[in-house]
Amino acid sequence: MINYYVEKEYESLSKRTAQLLIDEINKKPAGLFCFAGGDTPVKTLELLAAAEQAGKVDLSQASFIQLDEWVNIDPNNHGSCRNYLQRTLFDSIRTSEENIHFFNPNSIDLAEECWLANAFIEKKGGLSLALLGIGVNGHLGFNEPGTPFDVNTHVVTLSESTKKVGEKYFEKTSFFERGITLGLAQILAAEMLIVIASGSTKTNAVQTVLKGSPREDCPASGMWLREESTLIIDRSLAETL
Ligand code: F6R
Repeated sequence: MINYYVEKEYESLSKRTAQLLIDEINKKPAGLFCFAGGDTPVKTLELLAAAEQAGKVDLSQASFIQLDEWVNIDPNNHGSCRNYLQRTLFDSIRTSEENIHFFNPNSIDLAEECWLANAFIEKKGGLSLALLGIGVNGHLGFNEPGTPFDVNTHVVTLSESTKKVGEKYFEKTSFFERGITLGLAQILAAEMLIVIASGSTKTNAVQTVLKGSPREDCPASGMWLREESTLIIDRSLAETL
């Protein structure tokens, strides 16, 4: 089942999503949380940080794992997923470095990077909550269309769509051919899965999800493999469906 919400606008989508995060983290303060980068979760993560500063949620015991990263990127690059999470959330909250697992996208042994992420998740007993955006092509994290639903962390050859759309994150022209990402198996096994989407570029992807069954050509439709998932979109997107 998918709990499906259409919010009036991006602001209220972010408010609802942030409240779901706060409630869940308050229930599981020592859980493992995974938040996507990208434009869609920005406001949600800012609201989460503000809630922490206001004492409405305690993030000091929580652990976090990065969802995905561009392979070979400098972590200080404004477009890196790590830099994004740092700016949007981690720099404003009380957490310690040992509670956060980041990828090293410059490792000479990316298989080891996958192994380390898998081991971190396993040690923590799985993800408590994953908050994801949807790619224009239906991807989740960097799990591109065609990715089997049962894979763990892996290195990906990025699709043309992901590379093209990804240009929006960079201040200078950047070319990344590969990504590293938590796998659909780990994402779909999260105790709580929230997917958010806003704006008309996501029409096809969300339409495919709403067809009601999991299909490998649209990783986001893997939500149907779960007993329960949450999909929150805004009206500007809903009107295009
Ligand atoms: C980013 C990520 C991607 C994005 C997706 C939507 O870490 O994992 O899957 O969530 O491409 O991106 P936005 O929100 O920028 O439309």
